[in-house]
Formats: sequence, C-alpha cells, structure tokens
Amino acid sequence: MLTTAPRGTHDILPGEVEKWQHLETMIRFHCRLFGYGEIRLPLFEHTELFQRGVGETTDIVEKEMYTFTDRGGRSLTLRPEATASTVRAYLEHNLNGAPQPAKLYYIGPMFRYDRPQAGRYRQFSQFGVEAIGSADPTVDAEVILLALDLYAKLGLSDLTVQLNSIGCPKCRRQYRDTLVKYLSQQQNELCDSCLGRLERNPLRVLDCKEDACRRVTKNAPEFSGFLCAECREHFELVKGCLERAGARYELNSNLVRGLDYYTKTVFEITWSGLGAQTALCGGGRYDGLVEECGGPPTPGVGFAMGLERLFLALDQAGIELPGKEAPDVFVAALTREDNATAFELLTWLRRAGISAEKDYLSRSLRAQLKHANRLGASFTVIVGGEEAVRNTVSLRNMADGSQEEIRLDDLISVLTERLHC
Ligand code: HAM
Repeated sequence: MLTTAPRGTHDILPGEVEKWQHLETMIRFHCRLFGYGEIRLPLFEHTELFQRGVGETTDIVEKEMYTFTDRGGRSLTLRPEATASTVRAYLEHNLNGAPQPAKLYYIGPMFRYDRPQAGRYRQFSQFGVEAIGSADPTVDAEVILLALDLYAKLGLSDLTVQLNSIGCPKCRRQYRDTLVKYLSQQQNELCDSCLGRLERNPLRVLDCKEDACRRVTKNAPEFSGFLCAECREHFELVKGCLERAGARYELNSNLVRGLDYYTKTVFEITWSGLGAQTALCGGGRYDGLVEECGGPPTPGVGFAMGLERLFLALDQAGIELPGKEAPDVFVAALTREDNATAFELLTWLRRAGISAEKDYLSRSLRAQLKHANRLGASFTVIVGGEEAVRNTVSLRNMADGSQEEIRLDDLISVLTERLHC
C-alpha cells in the first residue's frame, strides 16, 4: 500500500509532465485570444455549495463527493467540479461590479468517487471556462468554439458536438410532466436507478446508458417541442452562430447532462476513439445558478474538459506533444580529479543560459559518454588531461561523434552559436 497511489489517482512523471506543461501553455494562450482570464480556486469548499449548486439528486452529490469534517466541525468537500466554486468566487469578490460578462478559466484537479476505468479517475484535471453575466447566445457559441478551436490547434479532428436545449424552469415544468407521464407508462422496462430518477430527477432517465432504458427513451417526447418562445429563439441563435463559424453539430434530444444547474443550451464534445468514456468536454448555460448560490439573477455559460481524456485521445490519434527536453551539454570529467573542474564549468554554462548536466556517479569516461547519449545531450565537453594544462577542453558533437579542441575562453560563444544555428 505504501508503494501504490490511491485507486483512481495517478502520478505524472518527468517526460509526461512536459507534455502537460505544453498543453497548459497552449490553453493559456488560447484563453487570452478569447478574452478569458485565469481564476485559481480552492481545492475544497463548503459541502453545501455543491449540494445547492450541482444539485442534491445528482450522482455527483449523492454518490461521488469526497466529503469530510474538519477539526473545526465544518463539512467540507474536495471540489468535484469548479463551476459552483467560480460562481461562489464571483459573488464573494463582487465580480459583477467589473465589466460583464466576467470571462474566467481554470485548470486543475477535481475529485469524484467514481468507478475508475480508462478515462475515468477519482482525481482528474479539468480545463474549464465560465462566462458569467451575459444571456447573449453568442457567448454560448463562443465557449463551444473556444473548445473546438483548441482541439483543432492540437490536431484532433472528427469530433462531434452534441447539442440540445433543456429550456428554462418555465418550459421545463411542462416537459417534465409530459415525460413523467410517458416514462410511467413503461416503468417495467426501466432499470432500478431510473425508477428512482423517475421520482426525483426524471430528465436524467434520458441519458441512462442501459439498453432497456435506451429503448424506452428513444421514442420519448423531445424537449424541442416544449421550448417557450424565448428559449426557442435563444437556441436558434446559438445554432446560427455555430453555423456561421463553420462548426458542425448534432442535435441530441437525449442530452441532459448530469448536473442540475443547466438551463437552455447544453452540449458535449465527443470523440469516438475513446471507447466508453467518449465525452471530452461538457458544458452549457446555467442562468439560475448565481441566484441559487445567493446572488442576484445572473446568467452564465461555460464548459469543462477532462485533460486525461484529452491526452488519451491525442495518444490514440498519434499526436505527440513535446516531451522531456534533453540538456544542451553534458560535462564529462576525464578522471576523478577533474570532477570539481567539471562542476565549475557546469555552473558557468548554466549561468550563461546553456542547459547542462554532469555525472554524479563517478562513472568512467566511456560510461559518461554513454550516459550523455541516454540523456540526449547535443554536445559533451570533456575536461581534464593535457587539454586542461593548455586551458582547453574537448568538444564532442554527440550526433556524429566528431571531436575538437576549444579554448576554454571561447567555449560559451562557440556553444551558443552552434546551439542556436
Ligand atoms: P462534467 O461533464 O461533469 O461537467 O465534466 C466535464 C468533463 O470532465 C467531462 O466531459 C470529462 O472529460 C471530464 N471528467 C468528468 N469526470 C471525470 C472522471 N471521473 N475522470 C476523468 N475525467 C472526467 C462539469 O464538470 C461542469 N462543471 C462543466 C461546466 C462548466 N458546465 C458549465 N461550466
């Protein structure tokens, strides 16, 4: 147990970390392009925030939260998602006083007590954006495009945007009644979980993955026929904006999402190569959430994408992000006596902005050269011997094995020139 990480968690090792850093840098650059600024939120919040925000009857709140009582007797929860936290921060820091909408993004770990499998973890990372303070349908389209353009930049194609509108509380009431009537007539066909959902959260029956439930929901009444005029107009505009931007989408009347705060637009971006966990990204509009959290009526829209799933997709698509960077130079000591000189040279090189490594295991020269090769160094500088007396070093080009004698005084300028040409 002491040598394995808890189930559903994973380490990101050197070599992989550089890929994460590369992706995060791309995300930050991309968000700036779209006018979103970073927000850093706590990893835990008052449990009530998620109960109220995400919804008491959702799987996340009912079964998946890491909730604990702290030493002061408060109930706290490791964040399972960050939309509720962003809204809390928006209210706590009066971000409604700043230019609206507040356009925010976050990158970081989330925690859900889910059944781990490929693409599903108990600690996973999300990149998410939230635009709070505008009801304009172009913002719905903007966040969808932000995600799509990022995937395109990474080289990922063949994505599907699944789109639906689940209306506002007004039109949802009518739809909900009709749906309950329809589902109740076929109760015998529904799985146990859906029988419970029928009572507490009937819309969630629509995205049950059980075959029997799917057979029932295939012919269920569609929300589109129940949207009020305002919600219908909003949805038409979102679709129109996506079309103008050349983004293809599929209407999916069974898409309802697993969090209770959504209103109007909901969407998921899927990639078929991912197997069971096809959702790379999910989001939608949440016009009631700010009020639910104690603020004034304020619309909002956003999404979050799972970064582990994104890496799985990139992997499967054969897309490599830049990994571990090799040192520019390896400094080899000819003998043990040259070790301190090698260290001094190493320090010079690093201070001159040249990434450099040396041997720390008293290896022979042959073994040092082998090690330099394994590290992928472009050059090896060999210090010691007769060259040391002449104030020179041997500079070995690791690509072709050629070696030449260089004056110590010229070393940095020679290396700088060769490394940058
Ligand atoms: P979500 O659909 O629960 O939405 O999660 C968004 C994405 O996070 C999923 O599409 C998936 O890629 C990733 N994800 C979720 N659970 C796991 C898991 N156990 N392991 C690995 N990846 C996972 C939300 O979290 C909303 N807060 C999104 C949002 C933002 N809606 C509006 N604004």
